[in-house]
Amino acid sequence: MEEAYKEGWLRAIGVSNFYPDRLVDLCSFAEVIPAVNQVETHVFCQQRKAHEYMAKYGVQHESWGPFAEGRKDFFANPVLNEIGRKHGKSAAQAALRFLLQNDVVVIPKSTHKERMLQNMDVFDFALDEQDMAAIRELDEQESLFFSHYDPATVEMMAGLQR
Ligand SMILES: NC(=O)c1ccc[n+]([C@@H]2O[C@H](COP(=O)([O-])OP(=O)(O)OC[C@H]3O[C@@H](n4cnc5c(N)ncnc54)[C@H](OP(=O)(O)O)[C@@H]3O)[C@@H](O)[C@H]2O)c1
Repeated sequence: MEEAYKEGWLRAIGVSNFYPDRLVDLCSFAEVIPAVNQVETHVFCQQRKAHEYMAKYGVQHESWGPFAEGRKDFFANPVLNEIGRKHGKSAAQAALRFLLQNDVVVIPKSTHKERMLQNMDVFDFALDEQDMAAIRELDEQESLFFSHYDPATVEMMAGLQR
């Protein structure tokens, strides 16, 4: 990727699922620091430590699964719904706004046009410090999917590429 970047074939290099130990390792030895690192990030797994390391090395934090793919009854969450209502927005929009205000890029997925439009309509309001604090409390600091520190996960991922 570095060769392709230097030859002008790539405008930027992005990586995915580089948690702090691997990111620091990569940034310590790579010639081109990745522009972006996509990791599982949502209100239940906010990745605050990972964010600090990305910021330290100048790597943009990008969330995959900004709605936790609907797990934990995401869209019915009372805190998100209450904050959304307060701003005339949905729980989904409150959750996206929380990430954006924490300097996390979001790539929500939807197969419905009206939800895609809703998910883009998050730039005309702002959560206040009380809202942000309430959502920070939802952080369980654990993946809702799998741990990338688990060797079995690494084997599973490596298997996908064969
Ligand atoms: N790098 C990685 O390892 C990795 C891993 C997983 C995902 N990703 C990427 O992350 C992106 C995000 O997708 P994701 O699959 O992780 O899921 P997500 O965005 O957290 O959640 C998607 C789910 O939320 C629903 N939804 C979306 N907007 C909604 C709204 N406004 N109200 C109610 N429900 C809503 C969708 O249903 P409908 O479709 O029915 O609207 C879908 O079930 C994708 O581009 C994906 O490729 C990357």
